[in-house]
Amino acid sequence: MSCSHIFITLTILATFAHTFSTKTVPKQRPFTKIYAFGDSFTDTGNTKSFTTSGAFHFAQNPPYGTTFFHHPTDRYSDGRLVIDFLAEKLSLPYLPPYLDENADKTHGVNFAVAGATAIGLDFFLRNNATLLFTPKSLKNQLDWFVEFSGSRGCINSSTTPEQCKALFDGALIWIGEIGVNDYAYTRATKVSDETIRDLAVTSVTEFLQVLLNMGAKYVIAQGMPPTGCLAFSMETYNITDRDEIGCVGSVNDLSKIHNKILQQNLRGLREEFPGAVIAYADYNNAYRYVMKNGGDYGITQLYKACCGAGPGEYNFNILAPCGSSSVSTSCTDPSQYINWDGFHLTEAMYKAISEEFFTKTAIYPSFRHLLEHKMQSMN
Ligand SMILES: *[C@@H]1O[C@H](CO)[C@@H](O)[C@H](O)[C@H]1NC(C)=O
Ligand SMILES: *[C@@H]1O[C@H](CO)[C@@H](O)[C@H](O)[C@H]1NC(C)=O
Ligand SMILES: *[C@@H]1O[C@H](CO)[C@@H](O)[C@H](O)[C@H]1NC(C)=O
Repeated sequence: MSCSHIFITLTILATFAHTFSTKTVPKQRPFTKIYAFGDSFTDTGNTKSFTTSGAFHFAQNPPYGTTFFHHPTDRYSDGRLVIDFLAEKLSLPYLPPYLDENADKTHGVNFAVAGATAIGLDFFLRNNATLLFTPKSLKNQLDWFVEFSGSRGCINSSTTPEQCKALFDGALIWIGEIGVNDYAYTRATKVSDETIRDLAVTSVTEFLQVLLNMGAKYVIAQGMPPTGCLAFSMETYNITDRDEIGCVGSVNDLSKIHNKILQQNLRGLREEFPGAVIAYADYNNAYRYVMKNGGDYGITQLYKACCGAGPGEYNFNILAPCGSSSVSTSCTDPSQYINWDGFHLTEAMYKAISEEFFTKTAIYPSFRHLLEHKMQSMN
């Protein structure tokens, strides 16, 4: 690399850093669009289109959205999610849900849908699983993506190469957490956790292979959070089943092993697709960091849900969920809580996690590395 080339690269990076800090729209953005997939941790409104019957169809009611948007947006939180903070970080608009036909999708689309599983639906039906939700799987999200690609003229990378290249040009792929629902739906069945783990991780891996084969170049896959820390788990499991951060140990162990296998598979994908940057977002450790250092973020309530009902210690009652007629208000200060409704997290927690991801180093390789790699590829 010549000196002038280095100089240009550094100048661009410096300009880029500057424009970020002043919050104006940079002339040259590293990424111009995001395609997101996942479940309720990432969904920005796709579930709105379904009339669901389970306990968790209340995200369309107050007090969801109370902190940031000031009205419900069908996000499962009081405000922004990690995907929203990612959009802000990249100076892009918040991602519209795929099913919003009128939305401007120039800067990307969100295919994530609450209740989604990694494993295909027929598996759950065959095994008599209790589906808590109108179910969609990663397979449905892939079908939507293919439909979306087709609408942009990308039918087949051999026959419509230009359109397919344009689809992925400047695109960052965010695979939000997916898997939590797979375990949840099969809790009361004979299916073992090992079976769920193997099928779920394989499904995510194959999904990534399809996207990478189609031409995806920058991918971030998010692991599972420590689900044993959700108010739902704390309320449901025996008080003797606790780990070093005070959460349900047996449940957190499942997340840990799941993430370990997922990371092994990501390493395999990096070898298979050396031209792509495939990063892992360590949701589990970022969450644990906040559990141990909540004070850094003004968080004081580690276990209790902000929006819910008693009588239990965790302000969680599955029969009286947040947003239902009996629970139309939340705690006074959601910014001090990790848990929003017992299953999902507060904006404050998503913000803290985003800080760990996008400013610190809870993504491997780091988010900064990803941006620099992208900027260099543009020269
Ligand atoms: C599912 O339920 C049906 C009807 O009760 C039963 O015959 C079948 O064996 C069950 N399947 C599994 C995998 O448990
Ligand atoms: C794309 O087109 C090529 C050439 O016509 C064909 O061989 C291939 O099977 C097609 N791929 C898909 C996924 O349809
Ligand atoms: C919780 O676990 C302890 C120790 O294994 C057991 O003695 C107790 O009965 C359990 N409590 C409940 C409510 O299951």
